[in-house]
Amino acid sequence: MIAYFIPPEKLGTPPMSDSPWELLPTASNHAQSLDGLYILLTAVTGISFVLVIGTMFYFMWKYKMKSEDDKTSPLTHNGKLEFAWSAIPAIFLMVFFVWGELDFVKLSSPPADSIDIHVTGQKWYWTFEYPGRPVAATTEVEDGEIAPLLVVPKGQAVRLTMTSKDVIHSFYIPAFRVKKDVVPGRYTYVWFEATELGDFPVFCTEYCGDEHSSMLAVVRVVEPEDYKAEVAAATTLEQGEGESLEQFGEKVYKAFACNSCHNTDATRKVGPGFGGLYGKSENLADGSSVEADENYIRESIMEPNAKIVAGYTPQMPSFAGQINDEQLNALIAYIKSLK
Ligand code: CUA
Repeated sequence: MIAYFIPPEKLGTPPMSDSPWELLPTASNHAQSLDGLYILLTAVTGISFVLVIGTMFYFMWKYKMKSEDDKTSPLTHNGKLEFAWSAIPAIFLMVFFVWGELDFVKLSSPPADSIDIHVTGQKWYWTFEYPGRPVAATTEVEDGEIAPLLVVPKGQAVRLTMTSKDVIHSFYIPAFRVKKDVVPGRYTYVWFEATELGDFPVFCTEYCGDEHSSMLAVVRVVEPEDYKAEVAAATTLEQGEGESLEQFGEKVYKAFACNSCHNTDATRKVGPGFGGLYGKSENLADGSSVEADENYIRESIMEPNAKIVAGYTPQMPSFAGQINDEQLNALIAYIKSLK
């Protein structure tokens, strides 16, 4: 079973807007104009379709051959009509082009005072890093499930600098009408100014493997005066008071989306199951074997391609720089506790 770690009802906003003119909630500075262009394009092409096809059927009926003596009309052309059906579409084309171009320029030009947030895509997880807090931000969504969290202040420009650790992903916030490919080996950007408070879903819209559909996150729009506190709360992943190391480790396991590739029992998902892994002897692709002790597990997380387990394709990304020592210790304790 695929774990959809954000249940749809927890994604914050209804999938449809109340207004008949909006397909989705509109929650950014780009939304109004892009929706307007979309509605105009749909209306103009829809009306044109009905007019052209309707006229065609009307003429087919009106000029159908009634007897053997019927002659084709001697008309060869009509200058005024031809001019009209060329000029009118040309005018619409220019309107679409200028409107689209202005929006495109706006979408590609983040204001100089934007807040910069770093986004990393990897199978099948998003990491959001804030200036001065290079720690992944997460939020609890339901039943202890944890999702990556992007916190942004309302009414301020935010620029996302995005890259991927493995394959091409695509970062999409429907409510903001921003979508951009996230490509390994280079940076891509989106920017927006959120206009509505609340939680909105983030999707990956480039097919990137088994768990593509569960590569979700939440964007939370907060009041500017609450922004710093909310970021601090979201980027703190520490052992709570009265929490055992194993319990904290389970939180880490979910926060870093280990669950998208590793089951808690012994069954294989994308990678080996964690149940009974500790202490087991693993056969490596080079014919040797290794005992799955603390050092082996640590190395597998920080430098996953150092040892390849026989029968597996190396595809685990390194978590070096993302997971700190406390979190790593807790995660190893949690793996040890799984039988
Ligand atoms: Cu990442 Cu689809």
